[in-house]
Amino acid sequence: MTGENSVFRIGDEIGNRFQVREFLGHGGFGDVYRVFDKNLQIEIALKTLRSSENRLHGAGANFLSEARKQAQLRNNPHVVTIYDHGELEHEGETFPFISMELLTTDLKKRMNGQRLPISVSCQIAFEIAEALVAAQQQNMVHRDIKPQNIMLDVNGRAMLSDFGLAKIISDAADGNSTLFGTPGYTAPEQLLLNTNISKADIYSLGCTLVTMLTGGPPLNRRMFSLRAYLPEAPYALEKLISQMLQDSPDSRPSAAQVSQKLTQIIVAQKATKTRYSPNLKSVGLSIGVAFSLMAGGFVYLQNSHPSWQTSASQHLRSDAKAMRQNMRTYARNSSSGQLARSTYHAGINAMKRLKNSQTN
Ligand SMILES: Nc1ncnc2c1ncn2[C@@H]1O[C@H](COP(=O)(O)OP(=O)(O)OP(=O)(O)O)[C@@H](O)[C@H]1O
Ligand SMILES: [Mg+2]
Repeated sequence: MTGENSVFRIGDEIGNRFQVREFLGHGGFGDVYRVFDKNLQIEIALKTLRSSENRLHGAGANFLSEARKQAQLRNNPHVVTIYDHGELEHEGETFPFISMELLTTDLKKRMNGQRLPISVSCQIAFEIAEALVAAQQQNMVHRDIKPQNIMLDVNGRAMLSDFGLAKIISDAADGNSTLFGTPGYTAPEQLLLNTNISKADIYSLGCTLVTMLTGGPPLNRRMFSLRAYLPEAPYALEKLISQMLQDSPDSRPSAAQVSQKLTQIIVAQKATKTRYSPNLKSVGLSIGVAFSLMAGGFVYLQNSHPSWQTSASQHLRSDAKAMRQNMRTYARNSSSGQLARSTYHAGINAMKRLKNSQTN
């Protein structure tokens, strides 16, 4: 990232405290840098309001007051921790700043135009729903949930950033607190004046979840069907998303309900995986071996003495039937490991019977 239009340059020392090490990016109204904080003796992310926005009436004060609100959520593992806020003097100008936890990337960059697996998408959405539960307890609304505002740490843990920042520019620009958001993610009621927007974040989280699962926000939310894009998605997830995208805020679930539902979906997904996928290789191999043994048996019979054919092929047929039955039962009731073992043994038994029928 070049940062051609950024205010601070790499190597700058700002306010005798922050040493600029990297320009991380431009946002809607601010610039973000990786800096070394001489007070804390660690690298942090420094967000500054650009001077044009700073000149908007009250923007700087709102920027700092929103940072104070987000700081109240600092104990939540899914909200970016704010370390400090204030004003910096640089070349005769004043820049409001927020210093915060330095993270690895944001969700948009992580996706890089690709969709994410269902399990990862649900886990990230669950973590952000947890942040919203905490926000709701403080009567806070984020107002601009989207992949760019979801940060990820080295372990992939998701954290919500920029609480309330969407509000400050609209407040400063025309004294109106509702007209701001991001197309594709903004709840319909956010486009209206003087409406209750307490459920707007649920809508935006629904759009973000759709983005993770399909690669972009829902184009037509009323017609949106997840399983049309992703037939393997569970019905429960499709239903949850359609509830989150409801036009009427009252019809949307609460953050706690979203979190609970996603937990159930994640657990169900894990159970399905443990049951069928980890041993798929061994299941495939065993079934392959078993059927090869059976097929070999038939070929052998065809070329062997006619008196053995009838009885031995009967044995083989009944073994094949038992094997099919086994597979059905185990596929319904058991783990893939058991299925693999049972099928393999059925094949071995078939070979033994064939041998016996030859010697009798
Ligand atoms: N705490 C952080 N740690 C590391 N990188 C960050 C942090 N906060 C923001 N960034 C990065 O800085 C860049 C600008 O972020 P910023 O939040 O200003 O913009 P945005 O989220 O794209 O837009 P918006 O102004 O709507 O929030 C992004 O690339 C983002 O990933
Ligand atoms: Mg942001």
